Amino acid sequence: MIENVENQMNTLVEEINYSRATKLFATLSGGKRLRAKLVLKIEEENNEAARLGAIIELIHAASLLHDDVIDDAELRRGVKSVNATEDSKTAIMLGDILYSKAFTTLTEFDPKIAHRVSAAVTALSVGEMQDVEMGRTFNDDENLYLDMINNKTASLIEASCASAALLCGKDEKAYGVYGKNLGLAFQIIDDILDIVSDEKTLGKPALNDFVEGKCTLPYIYLYHDLNDEDKQRLVSCHAKTLSSEDSSWIKTQMDNYKSVERSYVLARQLSDEALGAVEGEVELQGIIENMMKRDF
Ligand code: IPE
Ligand code: IPE
Ligand code: MG
Ligand code: MG
Ligand code: MG
Repeated sequence: MIENVENQMNTLVEEINYSRATKLFATLSGGKRLRAKLVLKIEEENNEAARLGAIIELIHAASLLHDDVIDDAELRRGVKSVNATEDSKTAIMLGDILYSKAFTTLTEFDPKIAHRVSAAVTALSVGEMQDVEMGRTFNDDENLYLDMINNKTASLIEASCASAALLCGKDEKAYGVYGKNLGLAFQIIDDILDIVSDEKTLGKPALNDFVEGKCTLPYIYLYHDLNDEDKQRLVSCHAKTLSSEDSSWIKTQMDNYKSVERSYVLARQLSDEALGAVEGEVELQGIIENMMKRDF
């Protein structure tokens, strides 16, 4: 049960034995707990699975603490982010505390499982760096984008599924394929939501990706559809606060060329790929369908 994951997370944080960390961690509550839910659905809902789920959610929370510093984002899960209420230094240090506590606890598991999960965090961190580096100029390369989101997002979701499979002797490969494709689709939907949703629904900033230099899939598709003059206009809007005129111009062009719909089609294809890897697993199929139609 997911409550067991929540309890295990709180216990692990209390074991750190530092009240400031415990207090700040309490402000991070919420989140969809997707990664832990995947572990619980693949493994049986026992204490070991809940502990693995808790470790992975601590890792995910740490990655978000750092991500909000990297993205200059002041809102997370509907409340002010730690870099906003405290400062970036605190967010980074709390992230380090949660990461290292998670790795320490991972040593209780079979080395294969510990390796699977910790290697994913290296990939996630590489992905975050690729994201920032790619944002320094306008990136119009879809393959680079896919490689980056594979690292920053799919790797941990893939590892959640594969490690849960390892824990109960299921086919690590098939569940890994499911997790990887789910993870890719998940990030594409996250990138779409940044464009089509609002801050209140998302509980985090909207329309922030392009300002931060992130050319997500709808921007890449749009770029290739525009004529040369409009390509230049789009590039000139990159990585800056947009005037309302520029932002409505981009929205209109995206509507004209169906850039968001086309991105959604790729997410759907990846989801179908994920479904194909775990045929007959009704609950894992349900997770995909909910992920595709989510609005936050
Ligand atoms: C946010 O992850 C970061 C991305 C990979 C897009 P989630 O959308 O799973 O965040 P929470 O845990 O539900 O807040
Ligand atoms: C995912 O990217 C971040 C991580 C994998 C840590 P985003 O920067 O898009 O995530 P959000 O939108 O801030 O949640
Ligand atoms: Mg972010
Ligand atoms: Mg980011
Ligand atoms: Mg995002």
